[in-house]
Amino acid sequence: MGVTPKIASSMLSSDFANLASEAERMLNCGADWLHMDIMDGHFVPNLTIGAPVIESLRKHTKAYLDCHLMVTNPLDYVEPLGKAGASGFTFHVEASRENWRELIQRIKSKGMRPGVALKPGTPIEEVYPLVESENPVEMVLVLTVEPGFGGQKFMPDMMDKVKTLRKKYPSLDIEVDGGLGPSTIDMAASAGANCIVAGSSVFGAPEPSHIISLMRRSVEECQKNN
Ligand code: DX5
Ligand code: ZN
Repeated sequence: MGVTPKIASSMLSSDFANLASEAERMLNCGADWLHMDIMDGHFVPNLTIGAPVIESLRKHTKAYLDCHLMVTNPLDYVEPLGKAGASGFTFHVEASRENWRELIQRIKSKGMRPGVALKPGTPIEEVYPLVESENPVEMVLVLTVEPGFGGQKFMPDMMDKVKTLRKKYPSLDIEVDGGLGPSTIDMAASAGANCIVAGSSVFGAPEPSHIISLMRRSVEECQKNN
């Protein structure tokens, strides 16, 4: 039993002009996953990458591509991202109230792992039906900043959501995203998060490998003590 720690480098903080080498650098520094922030300029006020970039990156790496869809119509992205070689497909609960069952089913049929994300203002209860469904999501992403941009301040208030989820679902993958780094990792790890997304703290460090191993150790220690 127990969930595995996963450290995901958020490529939003990378040099997009050198994405393949940045991805390789992060994996060499010990990252388990590459977190890919897909934004449509509508669900969030920023526009980033889509399936063509995932497809290009896939030609350079076998790594798990943990895609976080900050888009208004996630269903439209399932087919192209599946073809492009995405590994995880995490959609927002706020954008899928009408069609999450269909979404989960389609994501799985394209060979991807479904996850659901929630914004800071969304109550945690909203994701319960998706975790408890016959055909459930396999990860919940708790946003610890307002989605849209890297480099924002971690919101400690979100840890109550993580604690509640961990208590209710001991073996669920729980991901946190936004403002994670050496000064905030212990809060997230002790609340029960096991998948840690980090952008600016990792890319901004002289030695990203130190930050990655520090965060992994924090998750491992907290798991031991629980
Ligand atoms: C925010 C994104 C995050 C972002 C995190 O909308 O979902 O993945 O890249 O960046 P940091 O770690 O810098 O807060
Ligand atoms: Zn993200």
